[in-house]
Amino acid sequence: MTADIEKVLLNEEELHQKVKELGAQISKDYAGKPLLVLGILKGSFIFMADLVREITIPCQVEFMAVSSYHSGVKTSGVVKIIKDIDINPKEYNILVVEDILDSGLTLSYLRDLLLRRGAVDLKIAVLLDKPSGRKTDIQADYCGFEVPDAFLVGYGLDYAEKYRTLPYVGILDPKVYSK
Ligand code: IMP
Ligand code: MG
Repeated sequence: MTADIEKVLLNEEELHQKVKELGAQISKDYAGKPLLVLGILKGSFIFMADLVREITIPCQVEFMAVSSYHSGVKTSGVVKIIKDIDINPKEYNILVVEDILDSGLTLSYLRDLLLRRGAVDLKIAVLLDKPSGRKTDIQADYCGFEVPDAFLVGYGLDYAEKYRTLPYVGILDPKVYSK
């Protein structure tokens, strides 16, 4: 598995430190508010699990599952909801947690959907931001790292459902997907 990794971009220590900082900032910003942390599966599952343990205020946890990539490296632009939430978004301050903001199509679709359903306070936290890929006007309110234009795997991120369980974020060797 590690033979397919061209370079480790972010190691466990760097990830842990940054997630800690994000958790502290979020705890400060949402103190006294009904916070709902909404993880977007599957890519966010490890970031989400680490982040909520660094949030020191009470919060509720929910998940939505969406699919936007269909196992390639380029976004299809089509977002399919595979698992939805059954709570009323109006009643919470919602923090959407996603692994990576690339084209922005997934998060702008989700943001518009939740706003249409009546969400009044909606913010976005991403571990990684790849600004070079952006195709829509969307920004994260909390961001761990800005990353270069390369296909990344590990710490939740996959290529064709592989590499999610690597403890670091690495650059996938292009030979893996150009075969
Ligand atoms: P966007 O809609 O293009 O912003 O893409 C968001 C989704 O695409 C993320 O949740 C990831 O699942 C996937 N994605 C984008 N870039 C990468 C990458 O470098 N590695 C793995 N998945 C990625
Ligand atoms: Mg994803």
